Amino acid sequence: MDSGGKRVTLQLMVAVGTAVIGSLQFGYNTGVINAPQKIIETFYNETWFDRYNEPISETKLTTLWSFSVSIFSIGGILGSFSVGLFVNRFGRRNSMLMANVLAFIAAALMGFSKLGASWEMLIIGRFVVGLYSGLSTGFVPMYVGEISPTALRGALGTLHQLGIVIGILMAQVFGMQELMGSASLWPFLLGFTFIPALVQCAILPFCPESPRFLLINRNEENKAKSVLKKLRGTTDVSADMQEMKEESRQMMREKKVTIPELFRSPMYRQPIVIAIILQLSQQLSGINAVFYYSTSIFEKAGVAQPVYATIGAGVVNTAFTVVSLFVVERAGRRSLHLIGLLGMAGSAILMTIALALLDKLKWMSYVSIVAIFSFVAFFEIGPGPIPWFIVAELFSQGPRPSAFAVAGFSNWTANFIVGMGFQYVQILCGPYVFIIFTLLLFGFFVFTYFKVPETKGRTFDEISAGFRQTAVGGALKPSPEELNSLGADSQL
Ligand SMILES: *[C@@H]1O[C@H](CO)[C@@H](O)[C@H](O)[C@H]1NC(C)=O
Repeated sequence: MDSGGKRVTLQLMVAVGTAVIGSLQFGYNTGVINAPQKIIETFYNETWFDRYNEPISETKLTTLWSFSVSIFSIGGILGSFSVGLFVNRFGRRNSMLMANVLAFIAAALMGFSKLGASWEMLIIGRFVVGLYSGLSTGFVPMYVGEISPTALRGALGTLHQLGIVIGILMAQVFGMQELMGSASLWPFLLGFTFIPALVQCAILPFCPESPRFLLINRNEENKAKSVLKKLRGTTDVSADMQEMKEESRQMMREKKVTIPELFRSPMYRQPIVIAIILQLSQQLSGINAVFYYSTSIFEKAGVAQPVYATIGAGVVNTAFTVVSLFVVERAGRRSLHLIGLLGMAGSAILMTIALALLDKLKWMSYVSIVAIFSFVAFFEIGPGPIPWFIVAELFSQGPRPSAFAVAGFSNWTANFIVGMGFQYVQILCGPYVFIIFTLLLFGFFVFTYFKVPETKGRTFDEISAGFRQTAVGGALKPSPEELNSLGADSQL
């Protein structure tokens, strides 16, 4: 049936590899401000002194730094909302190519901020690279899904997720004092984004446009065929063509549902509330408090080499992402989410105990390392990948684009809140800061337990019947491509 089979051609490998650079960039910029926090804060302080002839106050510094960290997510919100403006007009590949303009601008702004003695440049750079990241989280999974043969779609789709966690890890390693995390080299650490962007710009023009875009958006059947032949390394691509046509016919059958309709219609209201709260459970679990601030958290916990502990968290994160790739497809989504939330809550309690007893027991700093590592591991088992899976499985083709827009907005907004608020709460609550995440995690556990249905292996009809509302007419199961693509931005 599938003539292209499972062949991974060189063309396909190069195209997927080049696209995934976008995921790497997103991960890199999520993790890059973690290790050099102190050093860049010193730069802020010095710059402030040069301008105003007085040292910066503790509060102002916290505000400036929190803002530098979290404005990334404001860019992310806008970027993720703009994906649709690009992909259908310019094509998937060209959209990715164009987005690199943002990466270059951001790299220049951040890389020259020290030279320009301007934290404003750094903050604007963070915003621009956030825009780029928001766009990438839309572009990359879509392009990879559309050029991959059906049989490999799942496997290749996971590369987006892997790209993100490897990007985070890379940023943590490069952030070591011995590499680029020093007072003189940190501009290179932030400006490094320039290099992957350059590589992507050099190779992308040789990668094919998505055949699905050519066929469905442009109606260029011959071009689509010739691209497919190259990607599959075979001359008979009729099965692929057939599948794409069938998919587009299905899309026509179901009417698009707008965002306001999602909230007005009783049929969608309950699923959309679930989708939103699951996204909140991912971000308000506190995971990005770790990815943005772990070095400072470890330092407060008395860890001797906080940057190494941060790198350790990145390694655990990568390892458990790989584990979850194998588990997630097979296990029940609901159970995994519940286990993940509970595990994270347990880890947060352990962290609180470690921080509270630190003054009396020095070895509690090791307990804090264990706590953060298991916090990250449980995240990758449940709240990382699961919310995206469930959103894809709760909505059929018609409402899905709007549902994903709402989910993406909730996700980035909560990301912003954590990035912006964490340091203030930490100052306020001291060692008890993780108690807040514990309470939130228990709250999300209770919600999931009572309100979230198991979606694995069930049709939309069955799921919505479970909500005791009118069944969705002509509902479709999500394609594996969509499921995967959205396992996607788990770090966010
Ligand atoms: C800023 O630098 C001055 C002078 O080096 C130092 O005394 C002060 O503690 C620093 N302020 C903050 C908030 O780190």
